[in-house]
Parts: sequence; C-alpha cells; structure tokens
Amino acid sequence: MTATSSASPAEKRLLVTGAAGFIGSNFCHYWLKNHPQGTLIAYDVLSYAGNRHNLDGLETHPDFHFVQGDINDAALLESSLRAHDINVIVHFAAESHVDRSIHDPDAFIQTNIVGTHTLLKVAKSLWLDGPEGPVPHRFHHISTDEVYGTLGPQDPAFREDTPYAPNSPYAASKAGSDHLVRAYQHTYGLNTTTSNCSNNYGPYHFPEKLIPLIIVNILHNKALPIYGDGQQIRDWLYVEDHCRGIAAILGEGREGESYNIGGCNEWANIDIVQLVCRKMDALFAGNPRWAEQYPQAAPALGHRSEELIQYVRDRPGHDRRYAIDAEKITRELAFAPAVDFPTGIQRTILWYLEHPQWWQQVMDGSYRHWLDTQYGAE
Ligand code: NAD
Ligand code: DAU
Repeated sequence: MTATSSASPAEKRLLVTGAAGFIGSNFCHYWLKNHPQGTLIAYDVLSYAGNRHNLDGLETHPDFHFVQGDINDAALLESSLRAHDINVIVHFAAESHVDRSIHDPDAFIQTNIVGTHTLLKVAKSLWLDGPEGPVPHRFHHISTDEVYGTLGPQDPAFREDTPYAPNSPYAASKAGSDHLVRAYQHTYGLNTTTSNCSNNYGPYHFPEKLIPLIIVNILHNKALPIYGDGQQIRDWLYVEDHCRGIAAILGEGREGESYNIGGCNEWANIDIVQLVCRKMDALFAGNPRWAEQYPQAAPALGHRSEELIQYVRDRPGHDRRYAIDAEKITRELAFAPAVDFPTGIQRTILWYLEHPQWWQQVMDGSYRHWLDTQYGAE
C-alpha cells in the first residue's frame, strides 16, 4: 500500500450518491438527525428506484442540497463537489436488484462499474491532484455481501478476507466496483473505505424486493411469489443499523480497509414470508382501522395471508445462503446492531401500512411493466 495521503477530515461535508434510494435516503435522514447543521449534498439521477420524496423534510436543514444527476456525469459531479467544498463521498448509487441484472445486465455495468470509476476519477482529480496537493478527504464505498458468492449450510460466515466469487451480474458489477476502489487506494493513495453489508429492510424499501413486495401484495390480495423451494437464507439488518455502521466507519474506519456489516440474523425466505403473513394477520385482527383502509387485503377478506403463498420458478443462479461475520467492525469500531428483528419487522410493516401514498406513487407504469416481465401478466 502507498503511504496514507491524508487523514479523514474532522469536519465532514458530504456528497451522498444514490441518496434518493432506499438506503441512501435512510442514511441522509440518519446523518442530518445527528448533524443538523452539517453540509450534505444528496446526489441522485432519480431512476425508477430513486424517489425525491424519500428526502422530504430534509430541506429544513440549512446546508442540505439536492442535485439531480448521474454518477457518469463527471462535470456535474465536479461542480457539485467544488460548490460546497465536499470532503467526504458516501457512494450508494447503483443498480441494486439481482433479478433486473439477470434480465438487463448492461445498466449494471454502466452504473456500478463505469459510474463508480467516473466518481473515483473526479475524487482523485479534486482531492489528490489539485494545485495545493492532497487535501484531507474520505471516499466511502457501499458494497454488498453478494460479492462473496454463496455459502453451504455449515460454511462459516463471510469475513473480509473471504475470496470474492460473485454469481449474478449484479454481484459481479459490485465486485468490479470494489476492486476499482481498492485499486485507487493502493495505486494513487485515495483515502477509501468499503463496507459490505447483508440484506437491509425498513422504510422506503422499493417494493420489487422481497419484504416490501410481500407486504404490498398481501394488501392487494395478490400471490406471494417464493422462488424455488424458499429455503434460501439471507442475513437481515434493519436499515438504520446499516446507517449507524457506515457512520462508525466514517468516524474511525481505517483507510483502505473493508468492513462487513450484518445482522447476525439468518432467515430462510419461506420463514420470513410466513412471519410477515402472521404479523399482518395479527395487525388486522387487532385494529379494525386496517380492514377499513385496505378492504382488498387478504386478512380484511377473512383469509389468512399465508394462503397467498405461491412457489414459482427459481431465480437463475440463485445464491443459497449469505451470512456475515461482523467481528471486525465490532472489535475495531464497537459497532453492533441496535434494532432487534421483531422490533424492526413490526416497525417496517407498520410503516408500509401508514404510508400507502408512498408505495402507490412508486408503483407506476414502469414498475407494473417490471412485474409483468418478472412474474407474468395477471
Ligand atoms: P436502490 O435501488 O433503492 O437505490 C439506488 C439509488 O441509486 C436510486 O435512488 C437510484 O436512482 C440511484 N442511481 C442509480 N443509478 C444512478 C446513477 N447512474 N447516478 C446516480 N444515481 C443513480 O438501492 P439500495 O437498496 O438503496 O442500495 C444502495 C446501495 O447499497 C447499493 O450500492 C447496493 O449495492 C448496496 N447494498 C444494498 C443492500 C440492500 O439490502 N438493499 C445491501 C447491501 C448493499
Ligand atoms: O445481500 C445484499 C443484497 O440484498 C443487496 O446487495 C441487493 O442490492 C439487495 O437487493 C438484496 O439482494 P437479494 O437478492 O437477497 O434481495 P431480494 O429482496 O431481491 O430477494 C431476497 C430473497 O428472496 C432472495 O433469495 C430471492 C427471494 N425472492 C425475492 C423476490 C423479489 C423470492 O423468493 N421472491 C421474490 O418475489
């Protein structure tokens, strides 16, 4: 490794890419709640998964700015970074859905690999190659556990030194971006950190992903599609805990290091779907308000939500199991998840019940087209 070019800046002025997506928007809310006077540029192209409304309420912060832009647009990135003297980039922007990467990998290469490289080049030119030489900065890259591939039932959980073995075009594109970040640190001395996190759940999760899809389908009395035998395992983490982990890395994370973040919370898909079904049924049974508001929901019609479960064709190349060994971030940064799963899942289901206007407006024409492509027209 090259010598450290600069320390992490004490006063952090952030540009957050992918800020209008699920985790990016949760991160912006989390960060500004804890740094109300802080500088934060939310940068997002507003693709189908990016929603400006996810950032509602943040305009009250004096130094919050929204820029609609692509991470492939070097000129716009550079002017945004210069305008607010940004010294920290938190890079969430990505094509993030595995199933879409199977149907249309090109967008994943363009955003996740080429876009990340554009961002790295801009960061290097501003922070390392300026007339005054290197200035203090940090580039934090958000990655995923999927870069490590798949685990057997008895395999130890993924560690930071587990070899990369990505299986889907999505995972391969994220692995490619991780390698570029590593190379920019190693070769040029860019001050980078990377985090590889397991499956997140919580508010603002786009309903193409398993948990929000199940909730919204129960509300519409629609089939709950389970790929293959439903025994694939994921390690679920409440999104706010992911944000806390990232904040911990921005604080004391060591340059050039990767940190795994996970929930220590492994669930087979079928078990999590059944859990959501039971919780929905209990909420409807406990409060007549929900049946009045959602008369088409399975429990409002007197059915058990579980009756909607339907096994469908498996995802091609479907990874069987993910699990995170989070020992490093716990040991180095004293990080541990704060929200237990029963609390987090209850909070999440209630959030969807209480925000129909949110998921109704994201389920536009392009989303319906995706449902037809993936699950067949109904
Ligand atoms: P998301 O799809 O909800 O959000 C992605 C955001 O990136 C959207 O707002 C989208 O508009 C924006 N975007 C896409 N292409 C862009 C481009 N070219 N320029 C600028 N913005 C662009 O995804 P998410 O679930 O919030 O994931 C965010 C990051 O976290 C991704 O890098 C993903 O790989 C990673 N991650 C996600 C999870 C998870 O469980 N969701 C787990 C681990 C890591
Ligand atoms: O592990 C981290 C990753 O988690 C992130 O990097 C990705 O961005 C994020 O999308 C997520 O990927 P998954 O493929 O694990 O998430 P998804 O919600 O798409 O699926 C979760 C599991 O549920 C997976 O095994 C596939 C299965 N599934 C999914 C859908 C949408 C179903 O059985 N039926 C479905 O309809």
